[in-house]
Amino acid sequence: MAETPAQMPKQVTVIGHPLVQHKLTLMRHKESSTGKFRQLAREISLLMAYELTRDLPLEMREIQTPMETMQAPILAGKKLCIVSILRAGDGIAEGMLDLVPSARVGHIGLYRDPKTLEPVEYYLKLPEDVGERLVIVVDPMLATGHSAAAALTRLKQAGATQLRFACLLAAPEGMKVLTEAHPDVPVFTCSIDRELDSHAYIRPGLGDAGDRLYGTK
Ligand code: URA
Repeated sequence: MAETPAQMPKQVTVIGHPLVQHKLTLMRHKESSTGKFRQLAREISLLMAYELTRDLPLEMREIQTPMETMQAPILAGKKLCIVSILRAGDGIAEGMLDLVPSARVGHIGLYRDPKTLEPVEYYLKLPEDVGERLVIVVDPMLATGHSAAAALTRLKQAGATQLRFACLLAAPEGMKVLTEAHPDVPVFTCSIDRELDSHAYIRPGLGDAGDRLYGTK
């Protein structure tokens, strides 16, 4: 079973659940069709959301069952917010929404400036009260880590204080960039792969997650 490597900072969790690992392997197969890949992304994201929300606070509420009145646990505070890093993040957000359908959803779009190679924001839409919600930022591939780090920085500027980041796969290089830039943000992944190649693809990886989710090239 996959485990969080000992040398990783404490903020990093590798989700070793057998179903997650099995589905990730199927996603890596180059023969998996667009439909299959999308379905697996949805399923694995639902399972990730389960892990990511393990420690959400509960409060007691009085309810009526058909039999009697009882004090029952219910999620405390505001609904969480999922922020998708466009465009592949949408494939993860969909699956998380299956588990938490009342979550708010934000989007952030970033492109890499060809001269400076720095991420530049081209789109941002967030709930007004993002600062009062647990915010889960999602992107399937943590490659160089620059977009993820920039997205978290932007969300902090927008007032978010409770942040988590979730990806399917991470490169060690991207994990280092992200955790050094945001040591306060818990990071969840299903695997830390071997390396980034010279084109910033994760190896062995699963290819281009956006293209595989949407059948583009
Ligand atoms: N983005 C992807 O979709 N795949 C990679 O391997 C790296 C970045």
